[in-house]
Amino acid sequence: MSNPSLLILAGDGIGPEVMDQVKRIIGWFGYKRDMSFDVSEDLVGGAAYDKHGVPLHDDTMAKAQEVDAVLLGAVGGPAYDDLDFSVKPERGLLRLRKEMDLFANLRPAQCFDALADFSSLKKELVTGLDIMIVRELTSGVYFGEPRGIHIEDNMRVGINTQRYTEAEIERGARAAFEMAMKRGKKLCSMEKANVMESGILWRDVVTEVHADYPEVELSHMYADNGAMQLVRAPKQFDVIYTDNLFGDILSDCAAMLTGSLGMLPSASLGSPMANGRPKAMYEPVHGSAPDITGQEKANPIACILSFAMALRYSFDLGDEATRLEAAIETVLANGARTGDLMGPEGGTPLSTSQMGDVILEALDASIL
Ligand code: IPM
Ligand code: MG
Repeated sequence: MSNPSLLILAGDGIGPEVMDQVKRIIGWFGYKRDMSFDVSEDLVGGAAYDKHGVPLHDDTMAKAQEVDAVLLGAVGGPAYDDLDFSVKPERGLLRLRKEMDLFANLRPAQCFDALADFSSLKKELVTGLDIMIVRELTSGVYFGEPRGIHIEDNMRVGINTQRYTEAEIERGARAAFEMAMKRGKKLCSMEKANVMESGILWRDVVTEVHADYPEVELSHMYADNGAMQLVRAPKQFDVIYTDNLFGDILSDCAAMLTGSLGMLPSASLGSPMANGRPKAMYEPVHGSAPDITGQEKANPIACILSFAMALRYSFDLGDEATRLEAAIETVLANGARTGDLMGPEGGTPLSTSQMGDVILEALDASIL
């Protein structure tokens, strides 16, 4: 059997730096665990624009459709801020999500014990925090038509449309219920059914799907209340299911509860391919961080944890994913810190590749 295939799209800013560490980890699994991947690389975002004049070349899109999983670093940067909307780096990312039909975006917000002090909330509110946000990723106001800016009565009008079919709500809901079944069996669905018809439909459809998952305790919350509850008492949540825009916002909020954006991975999953694996893209939640680009200061952990999610969700290697996550927990418990994880007490931060070094050492120790 041929090796599973990975397409690496490191992208812009710190993307390539953090992805270099992921490549070392992938290599480790090949040498030490006999789990080899066929890795290819290509451009996305500003890097693709610089070479091709578009943030995602058609050939790259075609490759992404063929591989078993895509690993993405980050897109965007100040050099591209003034580009036309249609070729902005983010459009490359959105095209991948849309054309691969990656409708279920899994965004875990987990607080590592060693980092509980970094949260902006009191330590006791976040210690042991483990939430999974399932964000619908291919529809809603991000893609709804009509959209655009046009002139009405001599005035510019900006339009975006929140649009959801029941099929779109349902397939995401099933992914969320399945996730809840594997975790704490609690699902909270968030929308704005008090002001939006799409929210009313959302609530109805999620309630209908619940009939197939009677073991899961389902609750509904208005998304604004959800934001408040996330900062008031985040540990009340297990799995949250919400739409594309609310999910964008709520996942940033949940991410900050854990203390560092540099720690959080994500998975974007679609329907199963012929080989049974879901279409999939894995990426850190953080952005391209232009302020520290090229300085070897970035924290590679979010990107490495994204690869752990790939092991779990694309390759059915949950034990190996756990091994990698445990290695990261070990190095953090031993005090390994990149700059973003330095407390007021200071100390010397590890560089990006030094963080990679200690994680590889912990992996080695795990198989002794
Ligand atoms: C995210 C990001 C993207 C989004 C941007 C970069 C298009 O904020 O993945 O959360 O809005 O979905
Ligand atoms: Mg976002």
